[in-house]
Amino acid sequence: MADAWPAASFVFDSASEADTDRLGAALAGVLPSGTVVGLIGTLGAGKTRLVQAIAAAQGVPRDAATSPTFVLVNEYRGRLPIYHIDAYRLRDEDEFQELGPEEYFESDGVTLVEWADRVADCLPAERLEIHCEATGESQRRFRLSAVGAAAAQIIKEVRRALVAE
Ligand SMILES: Nc1ncnc2c1ncn2[C@@H]1O[C@H](COP(=O)(O)OP(=O)(O)OP(=O)(O)O)[C@@H](O)[C@H]1O
Ligand SMILES: [Mg+2]
Repeated sequence: MADAWPAASFVFDSASEADTDRLGAALAGVLPSGTVVGLIGTLGAGKTRLVQAIAAAQGVPRDAATSPTFVLVNEYRGRLPIYHIDAYRLRDEDEFQELGPEEYFESDGVTLVEWADRVADCLPAERLEIHCEATGESQRRFRLSAVGAAAAQIIKEVRRALVAE
């Protein structure tokens, strides 16, 4: 019955930024359009760096992907549109709602939200969460967890993609 209940979480230990790029490429290859990804973790944990890895794998130059400090939402044109939101500087959930996030969630793109724990109640019930943690100077731990069945399937495919490399 393993396939009926795909693993709902997966830990990826990254030893280097190149490793994080591998995870980003695996994610970029399997994220279906309309996926919302919540990134959770402290300053410097690697949230933006992972977004860059995903965007780069979709053909977006890495330096085009930066934390959306002033504009709040960045948009990159990769294989799919990528919407990159950073909730860090938002005052509260109302300010997040003013961005009109449903438009992104319901789009054909992939929406990546940094500091997702700050706006968790505003995110769709079906989403992928990635907890990011610094475990050393160049080591980062990324823990993928599924909120809903669709994300569990994504996690299964990410694992398969990483094993198949
Ligand atoms: N294995 C690794 N994977 C990802 N980033 C790494 C790794 N090793 C070192 N780093 C460095 O860690 C930093 C991660 O910074 P990043 O901006 O992604 O953090 P963040 O979680 O987005 O923080 P913030 O909350 O400030 O936006 C970068 O400077 C990156 O070069
Ligand atoms: Mg960031």
